[in-house]
Amino acid sequence: MNCLQSWPEPIVRVQALSESGIKSIPERYIKPALQRPNSVKHGDRHFDDSQINIPLIDLQNIYSNDESVRNETLSCISNACREWGFFQVVNHGVSPELMKQTREMWREFFNLPLELKQEYANSPTTYEGYGSRLGVEKGAKLDWSDYFFLHFMPHSLRNPNKWPALPPSCRELVSEYGENLVKLCGVLMKVLSINLGLQEDQFQNAFGGEEIGACLRVNFYPKCPQPDLTLGLSPHSDPGGMTLLLPDENVAGLQVRRGDNWITVKPVPNAFIVNIGDQIQVLSNAIYKSVEHRVIVNSEKDRVSLAFFYNPKSDLLIEPMKEFVTRNRPALYPPMTYDEYRLYIRTKGPCGKAQVESLTSSP
Ligand code: OGA
Ligand code: NI
Repeated sequence: MNCLQSWPEPIVRVQALSESGIKSIPERYIKPALQRPNSVKHGDRHFDDSQINIPLIDLQNIYSNDESVRNETLSCISNACREWGFFQVVNHGVSPELMKQTREMWREFFNLPLELKQEYANSPTTYEGYGSRLGVEKGAKLDWSDYFFLHFMPHSLRNPNKWPALPPSCRELVSEYGENLVKLCGVLMKVLSINLGLQEDQFQNAFGGEEIGACLRVNFYPKCPQPDLTLGLSPHSDPGGMTLLLPDENVAGLQVRRGDNWITVKPVPNAFIVNIGDQIQVLSNAIYKSVEHRVIVNSEKDRVSLAFFYNPKSDLLIEPMKEFVTRNRPALYPPMTYDEYRLYIRTKGPCGKAQVESLTSSP
């Protein structure tokens, strides 16, 4: 039997667990001591990240009439890609109203009765629908979250009948939100290309031009009675090309790795959080690296986030672009399709940067 056909254990909805009023969490959510949110690897127990944040970019400035403003903005994005792998963008052209409506519509979806959501229960063959785990390893430690996963691009995979029928505005909002985000990703791909000294369309073309993939993962992190023992989402890098995350307006939770520390992202109103995925690391031959991130939970408030993944056409071979391969810097990764690549996280669940690092051709 194909190991991806069904889940290895009965699925438990984390939201239902949380709402049952339990005071301690089941063992399968308790992480080993070193993986817990407050464990510190190398000593610095009092590390304070309250004054640190990922870079903030005003995207409108890339269209400025003033060349020095344009160049400075491009260079800020370039530094953010090299040093953080993460940044926030404001004035990105997507209406704050649409962002808010879409997020609040999804919050309503998760607040519907369990039976209604169960109609969309997903399986590991496609992951489309309502889910509560990533990975199919029996006995694996699980994360404290539920999600809804759907395909937006290519058109052949887009099937609004698999999207929630309720709230009534869901399908229309997801369509409009998706169109807007595909456009924004197109702009960011050009910026990344230019910053790497390529023609502006080169990254997009390497992703398959119009035939890119895009999917939406809506994460729901319920309140947790013992947030210090678990994680909402374990450390991982995003396997695809680039991610646009719309975080919860009121509740922080995303943490980005910086050396041995985890920096909590402080969301800016109406911003998207942008991050580089593994496929851009491969195409750029690791000039840009995907960066590990994770999500912590809390005992006070639920949290909703929308992760929009912009990916290469899934059957194209992705390998370091020839512009980045030299005698001194040979190709670090062998060619692989995204279809093959994403099987790993879908089988094993989130594993830090283990996958992309395992590919690195040995020196
Ligand atoms: C993801 C992710 C972060 C968040 O879905 O890949 O990293 O804040 N989400 O929910
Ligand atoms: Ni992620």
